Amino acid sequence: MKIISDLRKMQKFCLLQKRAGCSLGFVPTMGALHEGHLSLIRCSEKENDITCVSIFVNPAQFGPQEDFTRYPRPLRRDAALCKKENVDVLFRPSARQMYGAGFHSFIEVGEMGGVLCGRSRKGHFRGVATVVAKLFNIVQPDRAYFGRKDFQQAVIIKRLAEDLNFSVAIRVLPTVREKQGLAMSSRNAYLSRAERSDALVLSRALALARKMAGAGEREAREIIRQMTQLIMARKRVGIEYIEIVDPETLAPVARITGKAAVMLAVRVGKTRLIDNILINT
Ligand code: PAF
Repeated sequence: MKIISDLRKMQKFCLLQKRAGCSLGFVPTMGALHEGHLSLIRCSEKENDITCVSIFVNPAQFGPQEDFTRYPRPLRRDAALCKKENVDVLFRPSARQMYGAGFHSFIEVGEMGGVLCGRSRKGHFRGVATVVAKLFNIVQPDRAYFGRKDFQQAVIIKRLAEDLNFSVAIRVLPTVREKQGLAMSSRNAYLSRAERSDALVLSRALALARKMAGAGEREAREIIRQMTQLIMARKRVGIEYIEIVDPETLAPVARITGKAAVMLAVRVGKTRLIDNILINT
């Protein structure tokens, strides 16, 4: 496995692969890799000649009060995992290279960046869209892989690729869960044992939503009410939002007809967790 830190070397490496006729799959990450990331890597390997993984904890997508400095960075472990998964190239640029002196140009995200997580994380999706656009320009992938756990991010990146004419197919793969249902996330590392057990309430609340919709409940408000009740029964847990939205536009739906995404953000202790499911009535 090649490890490249230099941005221009990476650009050149990817260009040479493409010129040689190889298809390029790209898995952008912030590291602290888990089974969710590995499922993206494995899918990329099935669908492409070359798989490239990036690890970059992107300062532009963290607010001033957020966990940028604390974000886990197990560099050696991540590199070993990529090697084990037969990744062809691991790209680990520095913040200095990505946002050098005089950096000035950001991608403006429309309304979809201001709803759901965007309400409490101002500028977050602007930072995500900017770094993803930069990475797409560096790697020029044929396919890029994202997890459905970050549903809002995936919808925004799909729009970005279409709006800005990136010729990359955006592949969004199902959330990988631990045995008891907790969605895999690098931030799960922050949870104490008791919080980990409290965090199971997220997937349970989503399962309740699925069950209610399956039994014929169509009123989003009623589903949200019962999910809230279930979650609030836990002491260390606070709800940031629970919403049922159109999976394409992220606009809230009052009555569920057809496809809908049930989205939630919950604080367990000091850790903010998100999760979602898609339902189809
Ligand atoms: O999902 C993530 O890990 C990040 O938001 C991404 C897409 C790598 C951009 O920094």
